[in-house]
Amino acid sequence: MEFRELVKARRSCRAFESSQIPENQIAAILEAGQWAPSPLNLQPWEYIIITDKEVQIQIIKAAEEAKQSVIDSDGPGWVSKYSMEFLAGAPVYLVVAFDPSKGGLGTFFNQPHGALQAVSACVQNMMLAAADLGLGSLWFTFFAPQKVKSILNIPENLEIAGCIPLGKPSEEIKAPPRKEPKVHRERYTT
Ligand SMILES: Cc1cc2nc3c(=O)[nH]c(=O)nc-3n(C[C@H](O)[C@H](O)[C@H](O)COP(=O)(O)O)c2cc1C
Repeated sequence: MEFRELVKARRSCRAFESSQIPENQIAAILEAGQWAPSPLNLQPWEYIIITDKEVQIQIIKAAEEAKQSVIDSDGPGWVSKYSMEFLAGAPVYLVVAFDPSKGGLGTFFNQPHGALQAVSACVQNMMLAAADLGLGSLWFTFFAPQKVKSILNIPENLEIAGCIPLGKPSEEIKAPPRKEPKVHRERYTT
């Protein structure tokens, strides 16, 4: 797909067909992740591919628990209407973990988020690759990370950037509107 078209074709997908994704497509998505930039090229990310329904169900439970905790804490009203049913439809979950200590030299000059910045680029690369293959994806973070780390046996020193459900979209996705870019020339102006 042509780049400008691809950037707009990647939409957050919340309705998936259950048909499996071929392994070569998963490999192509991961390869795109590997080509993301990272401080000192440390590539601080690791992937957990989840196709086992039982493990997926545990993650769905963690997401439902997080939702309930927002509701119980009088969080925003729309949360009770936010359905997570789409999670059960996705054939693959790609959990992306990263090592926050692999952020390059930034800690010496008050830029401590290098690893998070890198893994974010990695996730975006993978979501674009998925879109290029005609697959839907969602950067999903609605869970207590500690819970998902324990379900997946993720070591204590790693953090979770997100859980990316992947699969063929089962409906067309309407693009949420974009704001005009806020641009300043030469200096920040108010
Ligand atoms: C870090 C991050 C976390 C997100 N977490 C969630 C989530 O937990 N659940 C969800 O439905 N969407 C989540 N989203 C998707 C956003 O809602 C979505 O990107 C935004 O509404 C713009 O829509 P678009 O991705 O189709 O352009 C997340 C996006 C990002 C970047």
